[in-house]
Amino acid sequence: MTELPTVELHIHIEGTLEPELIFRLAERNGIELPYGDIEELRRHYEFIDLQSFLDLYYSNMAVLRTADDFADMTRAYLTRAAAAGVRHAEIMMDPQAHLSRGIPLATSVGAVAEVLAKSESEFGVSTELIAAFLRDRPAEEALAVLDELLEMEVPIIGIGLDSAERDNPPRNFVALYERARQAGLKCVAHAGEEGPPDYIREALDLLAVDRIDHGIRCMEDEELVERLVAEQVPLTVCPLSNVRLRAVDTLPEHPLPQMLQRGLNVSVNSDDPAYFGGYMDENFRQVRAAFGFSSAQLADLAANSVRSAFLTDTRRRELL
Ligand code: HPA
Ligand code: ZN
Repeated sequence: MTELPTVELHIHIEGTLEPELIFRLAERNGIELPYGDIEELRRHYEFIDLQSFLDLYYSNMAVLRTADDFADMTRAYLTRAAAAGVRHAEIMMDPQAHLSRGIPLATSVGAVAEVLAKSESEFGVSTELIAAFLRDRPAEEALAVLDELLEMEVPIIGIGLDSAERDNPPRNFVALYERARQAGLKCVAHAGEEGPPDYIREALDLLAVDRIDHGIRCMEDEELVERLVAEQVPLTVCPLSNVRLRAVDTLPEHPLPQMLQRGLNVSVNSDDPAYFGGYMDENFRQVRAAFGFSSAQLADLAANSVRSAFLTDTRRRELL
């Protein structure tokens, strides 16, 4: 069966690092992992909240040392995404998570960007790169890293904000987003995943974001929903992620159908597919099974992704 052609707007490249590749890179780099084998590592993929996932996500990044490691991870994602039917992907990466381990930006971001430069010709997936900043680290550090990225002239289309959301509100990053916008970059931010609806408002009012990543907790605030509908703010929803991080109890209880029904601009995305049980094809398969979406509803979701992507008009027409 050929997969539904899709556009992916919420994916962390480090979240595509599969256990098999973790072991391969550990061996290549002479790193001793605290797990005897893949099965033992997999037993840690049981999360109780965002932080419990982030702990493993950052710890597994220790195997990423050389430019080849970053390139191999990126190629593995593009291969899997192409098989899942993804035709365009806007990919986040966390430069600070590598810089803080002593890996220079030229190695981490440089290697990912180099593979992405050829993704359309080699994998049939057009791509853009988004530098995401860690909201649980100081805003001054984020500013310094953004400045360094701008000086390097690596081709990033925008910036994002991720990591531990609770008690790390968007208002801490006003200067970062101002500088990014002055540099002509697009702006997205995770908000309303674990954090309250007010963080979604802050991301819109104080950071002037073009998209909200997740945003599901908007459903607790009727006035906010009305605004998001009126402004057609893109919400990049990640159903399997929300279940695995217990933002919702079960997939059938996920608010996606209500969000669509209310006229919100929602899309389906995979977030960290190596950790949450599936790539884009699996996310679509499971929401289809859980909600019995019609072809028209699935087409609406796919169309929302295309219109919310940072695409040229030509490429947008090709994807519609
Ligand atoms: N939420 C916040 N930060 C993240 C995530 C996520 O789902 N994945 C990687 N960093
Ligand atoms: Zn995310």
